[in-house]
Amino acid sequence: MISKFSITTALLALTTSVNALWPIPQSYKHGDTVVWLSPDVKLVFDSPPATQITTKNKVQEAWSRTRGIIFQERFVPWKFYPRGVKYEPENRLGTVIKKVFVRQTSVDTPEPARYGEFDESYTLTIPVNGGNFTSQGNYTSQGINGYGTFDGGREPGAVYITAGSSLGVLHAFTTLSQLFYYSNNHRGGVYSKLAPVEINDKPKFQHRGLNMDVARQWYPKEEILKTIDALSWNKMNRLHLHVTDSQSWPLEIPAMPDLAAKGSYADGLTYSPQDLEDILNWGWSRGVEVIVEIDTPGHTTSIAEAYPDLITGRNKQPNWDTYAAQPPSGSLKLRNPAVKKFLTTLFDDLLPRLKSHSQYFHTGGDEVNKNVYLFDENIMSNDSAVLQPALQDFLSYSHGELSRHGVTPFVWEEMLLDWNLTLPKDAIVQTWLSDESTKNVIQKGHRVVAGNYNFWYLDCGRGQWLDFVPASYKTFYPFNDYCSPTKSWRLIYSYNPIAGLTQDEAKLVLGGEVHAWSEQIDSVNIDSVVWPRASAAAEVLWSGRTDAAGNNRTFPDASPRLAEFRERLVLRGVGASPIQQLWCHQHTGGCQL
Ligand SMILES: *[C@@H]1O[C@H](CO)[C@@H](O)[C@H](O)[C@H]1NC(C)=O
Ligand SMILES: *[C@@H]1O[C@H](CO)[C@@H](O)[C@H](O)[C@H]1NC(C)=O
Ligand SMILES: *[C@@H]1O[C@H](CO)[C@@H](O)[C@H](O)[C@H]1NC(C)=O
Ligand SMILES: *[C@@H]1O[C@H](CO)[C@@H](O)[C@H](O)[C@H]1NC(C)=O
Ligand SMILES: *[C@@H]1O[C@H](CO)[C@@H](O)[C@H](O)[C@H]1NC(C)=O
Repeated sequence: MISKFSITTALLALTTSVNALWPIPQSYKHGDTVVWLSPDVKLVFDSPPATQITTKNKVQEAWSRTRGIIFQERFVPWKFYPRGVKYEPENRLGTVIKKVFVRQTSVDTPEPARYGEFDESYTLTIPVNGGNFTSQGNYTSQGINGYGTFDGGREPGAVYITAGSSLGVLHAFTTLSQLFYYSNNHRGGVYSKLAPVEINDKPKFQHRGLNMDVARQWYPKEEILKTIDALSWNKMNRLHLHVTDSQSWPLEIPAMPDLAAKGSYADGLTYSPQDLEDILNWGWSRGVEVIVEIDTPGHTTSIAEAYPDLITGRNKQPNWDTYAAQPPSGSLKLRNPAVKKFLTTLFDDLLPRLKSHSQYFHTGGDEVNKNVYLFDENIMSNDSAVLQPALQDFLSYSHGELSRHGVTPFVWEEMLLDWNLTLPKDAIVQTWLSDESTKNVIQKGHRVVAGNYNFWYLDCGRGQWLDFVPASYKTFYPFNDYCSPTKSWRLIYSYNPIAGLTQDEAKLVLGGEVHAWSEQIDSVNIDSVVWPRASAAAEVLWSGRTDAAGNNRTFPDASPRLAEFRERLVLRGVGASPIQQLWCHQHTGGCQL
């Protein structure tokens, strides 16, 4: 019995390990023939004559990075084979791939694109015996349906990629980088055991994002760039940068230099216009659009460091919790000409710099506290009936300014669902409180980016960060946070942003975001907090929670692939957490329940 079990698992491991793509493509066929990648493999890029030089450079640079990853990563997948099993190809025979033929079939849409204008689809084929494009641009090969033959390692092979846009090409490169392994034995060659390969892929959702909070803790620019890299390797395409909050204002606004000079945590803990430009460009060249959020009217106390008159109820102590969700309390004043002038100056400075990278800007709107408006000279009330029209006035002004710049707003769900404010028709609403919120936003006719905190908040389960005084010690013991427990990658993977919606309703769900609020996350631990759990959401958003047959994707299928992808993240410098003990990797199927 025992030996039968071990033989079965060993066989299982041999056949199912190490074919790992993450996120899984919509359609993926592969064989088990070894092909080698030539150390001087070349890109052959073909695109319509009108293709911009920027597009060509983007593809060329993405190829250089991909090539670098494939050859430098040195991923030897020993963890995914039983002890004592030989996992490397027996010899150096097999087709050698010398060319990567890429055909981009249309010119990129002028950027930045709007939702509905992103074509991220691609096909990727690795025949065993080489192949050709036909004159119509179709790909033909011999051997793709059979498993081909070894040819002594001299016959040139090739990879064939087609895509409708440079974004599709980038995604194809990302997939390609996951098909290869490093061979310790055969003079350091790089090989795949999966030929022939035939992949036909496109994302389920247009918006696949991470919300990164760089206000509660300051992150060096390099940390943000590294996170963008990791997003792109997951085929995630949005970084939502929550760049200011009550605690600090790190974003330099040249028209109002005191904002960051006084509002940042310390000298140097800021993002200059050049830093911002670097972040936006880094994202652009990797297919990750950066959407900046300046949260208003709540979560703004740091503005008071430079402009105390704009903020009501600044840092009320000790009973701050009457006036805010977190200390320090404070909110932008309403019906206030100086606040409006501030918004205009801010947007006139910032939006033109963002506009060439994104058509979208997040104006926040979560957790507006009512009591803090008892101190606002033009309001002096915490009555919703008084506050609601004043907030409408505030938001209409703010969104009017966005519209003047041709920018479409994102807002948090509270603006629409709690305050019943009227938003521009094309405004996108970000839900976080429940799935019902998503449904309610859709019923009000707006597009949604979902991310229910019970599933997709990466910061949950780290415990309370408040220092409880002796009198409240008992109340809060054992100090769990409000959204405890931790959302495991399995829980994250179980979440379907469109569950319970009709097909028509689901069309208004642009996608979703996982959230990394930074109370207890900074550059020391962000990698292990975010990765590989965000990868679970990445697969839901790219591949869909259900497979082509409509069945939920399963842990036995996902777990070995995610485990392998995690190894790649680690080799690429991302400190992603392990997802299982090694024994489970080495015994595929042995850790099921
Ligand atoms: C590709 O085209 C070349 C030139 O037409 C031909 O010699 C070769 O056999 C073709 N290869 C395949 C696999 O069809
Ligand atoms: C080539 O591809 C196009 C669209 O991708 C398809 O309509 C056409 O039938 C294909 N032609 C051949 C000969 O397979
Ligand atoms: C509104 O403010 C009054 C004080 O003016 C306070 O007694 C009341 O509790 C507040 N309402 C809420 C809902 O906090
Ligand atoms: C908004 O509408 C909901 C549902 O009709 C209602 O419960 C809520 O009190 C309203 N909020 C305000 C501020 O009027
Ligand atoms: C599929 O997943 C959904 C959540 O996305 C869950 O509600 C449902 O029970 C699952 N179905 C099965 C058969 O496991």
